[in-house]
Amino acid sequence: GTYSVGYFVGSLSSTSINRELSKVLLRVAPDDLTFHEIPIGNLPLYSPDYDADYPRSGLDLKDAIGRSQAILFVTPEYNRSIPGALKNAIDWASRPWGRNSFDHMPTAMIGASTGEIRTALAQQSLRAVLSFCNARQMTSPEAYIRYTPELFPGDGAVTNKGTEDFLAAFMNDFRDYIVRVLTVLPR
Ligand code: FNR
Repeated sequence: GTYSVGYFVGSLSSTSINRELSKVLLRVAPDDLTFHEIPIGNLPLYSPDYDADYPRSGLDLKDAIGRSQAILFVTPEYNRSIPGALKNAIDWASRPWGRNSFDHMPTAMIGASTGEIRTALAQQSLRAVLSFCNARQMTSPEAYIRYTPELFPGDGAVTNKGTEDFLAAFMNDFRDYIVRVLTVLPR
């Protein structure tokens, strides 16, 4: 069969290197994964005041996750954590209480940075958040991508074969992980 993967890009930047990385990942992913982006830029800041009556954007977010059999996070590191916009989207999805959209969801994460830490600390922050949300997480392989415009010239291209093979293997391992989780926890 095929598996429907929703993906979050953690950046709102119009020139996001993580959006560019997402294009590479969709191109090199195995054919039995289908992808839809779950937008985060249109959400108000979450408040429990919304729990009784979610706005359209919040309902759309939860519907999009509900239609996903797995979730991929492609996120930058902001100040050694995840961007507030991504945390806000996760907070929306985790509520109202008792209707947490991430419960038992197979997930994977990856990120690109211009810096030498390569989003490692953002990913550790995201792992803590997803643990509390009771998401399943692929913990190996890890993927910390150093962005240069030479390596990622645009439109999903990669100029280094080793990098391209690594990203393809990452997506292949995610597919295998999704299959394993869904065998025990179908959705
Ligand atoms: C950054 N950047 C950054 N990089 C990093 O490796 N670790 C960090 O903690 C931070 N912190 C940080 C905070 C803020 C507010 C900004 C705007 C940027 C740099 C970051 O990696 C770079 O801007 C990337 O281009 C962000 O990814 P997108 O938005 O291009 O996908």
